[in-house]
Amino acid sequence: MTSGVGKMATANSEPLPTRIEAIAMAADDLEAAGVAHPQDEARALLRGAAALTRLELALAPRAPLTEDESRILADYVARRIAREPLSRILRERGFWTLDLIVAPGVLDPRPDTETLVETALSLVAEKREAPLSILDLGSGSGAIACALLSELPAANALAVDLSPEACAATATNLARCGLSDRASVMRGRWAEALCGRFDLIVSNPPYVRSGDIAGLDPEVRLYDPALALDGGADGLDCYRDIIRDLPRLLAENAFVLFEVGFDQAASVAELLGAQGLQVERVAHDAGGHERIVAARFAPAPT
Ligand SMILES: C[S@@+](CC[C@H](N)C(=O)[O-])C[C@H]1O[C@@H](n2cnc3c(N)ncnc32)[C@H](O)[C@@H]1O
Repeated sequence: MTSGVGKMATANSEPLPTRIEAIAMAADDLEAAGVAHPQDEARALLRGAAALTRLELALAPRAPLTEDESRILADYVARRIAREPLSRILRERGFWTLDLIVAPGVLDPRPDTETLVETALSLVAEKREAPLSILDLGSGSGAIACALLSELPAANALAVDLSPEACAATATNLARCGLSDRASVMRGRWAEALCGRFDLIVSNPPYVRSGDIAGLDPEVRLYDPALALDGGADGLDCYRDIIRDLPRLLAENAFVLFEVGFDQAASVAELLGAQGLQVERVAHDAGGHERIVAARFAPAPT
């Protein structure tokens, strides 16, 4: 690599650049490679490489890099140019109010999924202190379970995923957030092996149409696992599998919330309706797309 950061890491005889100079060089390299927001990303990579908080960087922007920091930054920039996502390089992702570990082979949680958390919390707002039982199907990093448990102090959660890596990541993030005592993690195929009823069932299942996967951004296609993306020919296979089991899993007055693809809300509502569930709310993501479908059984007539 002939980039500024690459040269910087090997030029032992020359003084190492200051933090602010290193950010500028890294940003130039990222921009030349077509990475969006190169300044922000370069700053984040430098902070990761030098293990600096925002405040530490702001207080000493002209401190020179050490050789180790310079070498790590060069590696980080090369990986970002190869389209590895920032959160995977730094192994961390802010989600809701939490800092989660992003593990290899596990879906990197997305800001859109915070809309699911927000919608769920608003639907159970009057039961916030109640001992709600939550089921998170396809827990991945554990982002949804961790966020809900962090806001619902008496709730408990069961997180299920088919991927061993995802189960391990969920357990790690629950422990990191101090929530392990109110959660269990189980490896399984959706709700196949489950019995009992839940007050809140949440799921962000794979929903990309199989034929669309090849056209996804490299950050997604190359780094998120296929098991977390592929929703079958029409993208709806996992909703069908999960919705089939809802009648035996939902407690009285319980809600189910799904994250859906931008054009799937009506189809998922139809699948829910076929099992006797009615849509309570459709929530939009920051881009204005229908992203969350919340439903429940119609309350019994009085
Ligand atoms: C889109 S990811 C969502 C991860 C996490 N809930 C989130 O929102 O960031 C879907 C998850 O479903 C899991 N999954 C796929 N098929 C499954 C199945 N048949 N049973 C259980 N989990 C499954 C994947 O391993 C993946 O972790």
